[in-house]
Amino acid sequence: MENGKKVLVVGSGGREHAIVKSLLKSPKVSKIYCAPGNAGIKQEAECVNLKVEDVEGIVNFAQRNDIDLTVIGPEASLVVGLADALRSAGLKVFGPNKNAARIESSKEFAKKLMQKYHIPTAKYEAFDNYEDALHYVSTGNFPTVIKYDGLAAGKGVVVAQSLEEAEKALKDMLQDKKFGDDRVIIEEFLQGLEFSFMCFVSGEKVYPLELAQDHKRAFDGDKGPNTGGMGAYSPVPFVSPDARQKALDEIMLPAAKALVEEGSPFCGVLYGGLILTDEGPKVIEFNARFGDPETEVVLPRLESDIFDFFNAAIEGKDFIPEWSRDAVIGVVLASKGYPGSYEKGAEIKGLEKVNGEVFHMGTTEKEGKFHVAGGRVLMVTAHGEDLPEANLNVRKEIAIIECPALFHRTDIGKAVL
Ligand code: AMP
Ligand code: GLY
Repeated sequence: MENGKKVLVVGSGGREHAIVKSLLKSPKVSKIYCAPGNAGIKQEAECVNLKVEDVEGIVNFAQRNDIDLTVIGPEASLVVGLADALRSAGLKVFGPNKNAARIESSKEFAKKLMQKYHIPTAKYEAFDNYEDALHYVSTGNFPTVIKYDGLAAGKGVVVAQSLEEAEKALKDMLQDKKFGDDRVIIEEFLQGLEFSFMCFVSGEKVYPLELAQDHKRAFDGDKGPNTGGMGAYSPVPFVSPDARQKALDEIMLPAAKALVEEGSPFCGVLYGGLILTDEGPKVIEFNARFGDPETEVVLPRLESDIFDFFNAAIEGKDFIPEWSRDAVIGVVLASKGYPGSYEKGAEIKGLEKVNGEVFHMGTTEKEGKFHVAGGRVLMVTAHGEDLPEANLNVRKEIAIIECPALFHRTDIGKAVL
C-alpha cells in the first residue's frame, strides 16, 4: 500500500499486543512498528530494539521513519516525558504529557484534583511522618487503605484489616522507605464491585470505551497477593446503563475538564478504576494509559477502525465507536511463583492450535518455539454470545496449551456467570 500509514506502538506487553492486533485490522495502516515489542508481537509487527524510557531514541526513530502516529502503552514512558518530546518534535502521539499523567503517577495529585472538582472518591489524608500517620489510623475504623504516593509497581497499596497490619504497612513505607522517599495516603475503605472504565480523552472531549473488569489477586476466590492482573472480561453486566452514565457524567467528564482547567490537558486513554458503591460509582484510582489486561478484552470488541478512532480523539473530532455485542473473557497464564520469583525458560507447546486470540505478555521465541520469559506470560481470550459461552470457549483454548511451568485462575468472571 503506497499511501498507507505508519504507526509506532511503544511497549512490550499483552496490552501492546492487543493494540497492534487492533491496528492490523485497519485498511489505512500499512506498517506497524513496536518498541520494543515481544515475541508474540514480532509475528505481526516489526519490533524495534528501543527501551520504553528511551525518549531520544524513540523520537529519532519516529522522525527517521516518518511515523504518522505513535501510541504509547506504558506509564513508564509517560512519566519520562515521551509524549511531550514527540509533540515538541511535531509528531502525532496518542498518550498524555508528563504533567497530565500525574493523575496516575501521583496519587496525591489525583486526590487533590478529585477533591477540588467534586469527583466522588474515598476520603483521605496524606502523611510524611510515621508517628502522625500511626496516630491517625489508630483513631479511625478498619479496614483502612494505605497507599504509597509514588510508583510502586502495583505493590504500594495495603488494605489493612487491623491496627497491626496498618502499623506494618506504615513502617515499610515511611520508616524503612521500601518503595522510596514519597509520602503515604490513608483513605477510607470503599465497599462494592470494581470495574474499569477506559475513555479516549482529548482535552474536554471524552469518548467512552466498553467496560471491563480486572482480577488483581493471584488465585481463585480473590485470594493471594495482588498482581498486575490475572484476567478480565467485557462487558460488565453488574454496571447498569444508568450507573455507567453516572460514571461518565460525574467522574470521567469532570476529570477531563479538571485537567484542562489545571493547565494539563489530557490526550490519550484516561482509565478510571471505579467501584460501584451504594452511593454510586466512585474512583479508586486513575491511570493515564490503557489498562492491562483490560485492553486485551475490550479492543477485540471494537468494530470501528482504531486508527480513525485514535486520530479523531487526537484532533478532538466527533467519533462514535461501534462495538461487537460479543462477550470476551481473557485468562492470564502466569509463571508458577508469580508475583514472587519464578523460573524462566520452559517451552510452551500447542499455541498454534489455539483458535481464540492469544496475547503475549512475557515470552521469547527461538526457532519457532515459544518459551516462558516473564511473570505474566500469555493472555488467552475467547469470544461468545454471552459471558458463559465465552467462558466455555476460553476453557477449551487454555486446555490446548501445554506448559507445566504455568498456572492460571479458573474463576475469571465467576461473579457474573
Ligand atoms: P490501587 O493501586 O489504588 O488501584 O489499589 C489496588 C487495589 O486496592 C484496588 O484495586 C482495590 O481492590 C483496593 N483498594 C484501593 N483503594 C481502596 C479503597 N479506598 N477502598 C477499597 N479498596 C481499595
Ligand atoms: N489492570 C490494571 C492496570 O492496568 O493498572
